[in-house]
Amino acid sequence: MAIGTGRQRHEHWTCRMAFFSSSAAAARLVVLSRAESTNDELAERARTDAPSEWPEFSVLITNEQTMGRGRLGRSWTAPPGTMLAISVLLRPMRAGIRDERAKGWIPLLAGLAMRNALTLLGADAELKWPNDVLIDGRKVCGILAEVQPDGVVVLGSGVNLTLTDDDLPVPTATSMLMAGAESDADVVLAAYLTELREVYGRFAAAGGDAEASGLRAAVAEACSTLGRTVRVQLPGAQDLVGVAAGLDGSGRLVVEASGRRTAVSAGDVTHLRY
Ligand code: BTN
Repeated sequence: MAIGTGRQRHEHWTCRMAFFSSSAAAARLVVLSRAESTNDELAERARTDAPSEWPEFSVLITNEQTMGRGRLGRSWTAPPGTMLAISVLLRPMRAGIRDERAKGWIPLLAGLAMRNALTLLGADAELKWPNDVLIDGRKVCGILAEVQPDGVVVLGSGVNLTLTDDDLPVPTATSMLMAGAESDADVVLAAYLTELREVYGRFAAAGGDAEASGLRAAVAEACSTLGRTVRVQLPGAQDLVGVAAGLDGSGRLVVEASGRRTAVSAGDVTHLRY
């Protein structure tokens, strides 16, 4: 049942009933029957409302996103009802995250949390740098972390739940259903939020130091990109082909090619071979 007017017109209070487990893991949970982009919607609400209305770990979700945005200016699409679009609000400064290099780690931590959650739910999930989650080499989740001018982070993730072969936006995608794993939206969301709270809590407790918190090691362990030969398409530059040798202190991918190491902070990575 839709209630309210204006920006509230798509809010379904009855939907909260279907997200009982997730509600317990979120500081606030807003479920929309439809949104253009959950990242934009949450950023706009957090910008215009009092900060107290949107505490850290406020979550806004929908399963029908009409103008979803992906990394590097791409769009993110799925048929209505088949993909869960999740945006989580973080307040790193208030959480005591002051390390300069922390910004690069937050999206990686989201990828780690999602990979851990999907693994617990029966998928053989892996993390592809920077933060795609794959099952059998195919993408099940993408992450888009956006820092707002006031330092708030809107952490968006799109998880393919019940897409079938016919629905796939690209042949390199997959879904939890196709992988034979748990695909219930509430169960997946609750598992993700629980994992995210755990890794982000550890990160914050270490002031945003990925090394001291043990999260650099945890991300490296989960990241199937490391040790592989990769092609990196760098925005506005030539492709870089080399071996993904590790992660630097800011979470950048270190690629070794012709005896030279290059740290990459953004770009499209293709796994070529081991
Ligand atoms: C990517 O792999 O390119 C990132 C995709 C991120 C999609 C999610 S869905 C929820 C949130 N809202 C958006 O508009 N985008 C992110």
